[in-house]
Amino acid sequence: MRVGIGYDSHRFAEGRRLIIGGVVIPFEKGLLGHSDADVLCHAIMDAVIGAAGLGDIGRLFPDTDLRWKDAVSTELLKYVVDLARIHGYAITWIDSTIIAERPKISPFIEEMKSVLYRAGIPAGIINIKAKTNEGMGFIGRGEGIAAQAICVLSRI
Ligand code: CDP
Ligand code: ZN
Repeated sequence: MRVGIGYDSHRFAEGRRLIIGGVVIPFEKGLLGHSDADVLCHAIMDAVIGAAGLGDIGRLFPDTDLRWKDAVSTELLKYVVDLARIHGYAITWIDSTIIAERPKISPFIEEMKSVLYRAGIPAGIINIKAKTNEGMGFIGRGEGIAAQAICVLSRI
């Protein structure tokens, strides 16, 4: 059994869609990034990559590599899950937290789970939580969103 941890954050920007866990969430701003800036997918990817001992997102998907420009993060996540499997590991459990002052995330969590199913993560092995930052720091000021994830991999 192996465990990995993942963290990510992105700042808000005008004129971008807000995509978290593969779901487009209606909001006045979106997150800025080289890809779709899906902060939850990126945290989960780093947790899986970490548990598999494969480095980090930046090593697997360098932002200088045009192959990954404007990449859909759920597809990158699927690539990572497949890569872990190639290295002999299957996901046993993922827990995660999205930290956002606004918007309210909980109404979208079940939809995120069904989208992530298509990325190779069945709904029965993932938990997604949401928290505010109680008005403190960059998240509290509404400058951005962060996500954390932890992943348990088991040898196939
Ligand atoms: O009650 P506590 O201060 O621990 O948590 P909170 O940050 O106030 O969040 C309370 C609940 O609101 C969470 O358990 C989530 O279900 C929900 N929440 C959400 O849906 N979207 C957010 N951006 C933040 C919190
Ligand atoms: Zn990211």
